[in-house]
Amino acid sequence: MTSEPLKPSTHKAQRDKVYASLQDAVAPFEFNDAVAQVFDDMILRSVPGYTLSIDLITLIAERYGQPNTKLFDLGCSSGVATRALSEAAPESAEIIGIDNSPAMIAQCRQSLSDLIARNRVSLQCQDLTEAPLAGASVIVLNYTLQFLPLIDRDRLLAEIFEALTPGGVVFLAEKVVHEDTFCQSELEAMHLAFKKRQGYSALEIAQKRAALESVLIPETEQKHLDRLAAAGFSHAATLLRAINFIALVGWKQAA
Ligand SMILES: C[S@@+](CC[C@H](N)C(=O)[O-])C[C@H]1O[C@@H](n2cnc3c(N)ncnc32)[C@H](O)[C@@H]1O
Repeated sequence: MTSEPLKPSTHKAQRDKVYASLQDAVAPFEFNDAVAQVFDDMILRSVPGYTLSIDLITLIAERYGQPNTKLFDLGCSSGVATRALSEAAPESAEIIGIDNSPAMIAQCRQSLSDLIARNRVSLQCQDLTEAPLAGASVIVLNYTLQFLPLIDRDRLLAEIFEALTPGGVVFLAEKVVHEDTFCQSELEAMHLAFKKRQGYSALEIAQKRAALESVLIPETEQKHLDRLAAAGFSHAATLLRAINFIALVGWKQAA
């Protein structure tokens, strides 16, 4: 199995070797310079369904992006989803990528330089929980919420609901855990096998897993659906599942 290519203008990342050498003590995972340089390769080879989630974001922008509104990509990393939004949203809409990692924003500025130059996209280096989101028709969290402290997640989704225009949507992709212990253990094993087939060694997989342990906190699919309902979303559905990764959409009813 080989990785699916990203769009040529975004797929400039070097091969991910961040965890290839034995480390004495594995530090908690950070979106630092080393990760930013290889990010596109890392996410493509680590997250089953990533390419489909990007395709879905294009569809979402096309169907729900409203003229003269904002479309936010929260935790935009290198800007792959931001570019997808920009390709499908109405020309009068503003596309805004937000990330609190200076290294990722620097990478994103490079990847999206064509879109930034023609004012199609703007980027903000800030904590997404502090960003004003009012006037949005589409808000994307593509594998980002899982990195926020659990305690912040309910409030963020409630704020997203408030910020969306009627008829607006939130798109949420996440790693999830299964309620059933047998399924959970099989899905974990299949994810590990996926990464091996993507060329990661057992050492790389083990060290990255240790690094992410206290940083990426997955929840169940049901927890995400319940949170969307509690935040006010009248309807929510799962658009994608690839092993232990899912993508959901929450709809805010049109007025
Ligand atoms: C897995 S990456 C997201 C991938 C990206 N959305 C994509 O589609 O390629 C998670 C990103 O969220 C960012 N992030 C995590 N916590 C954040 C916060 N509180 N505010 C802003 N960005 C955050 C990280 O810096 C990182 O770039």
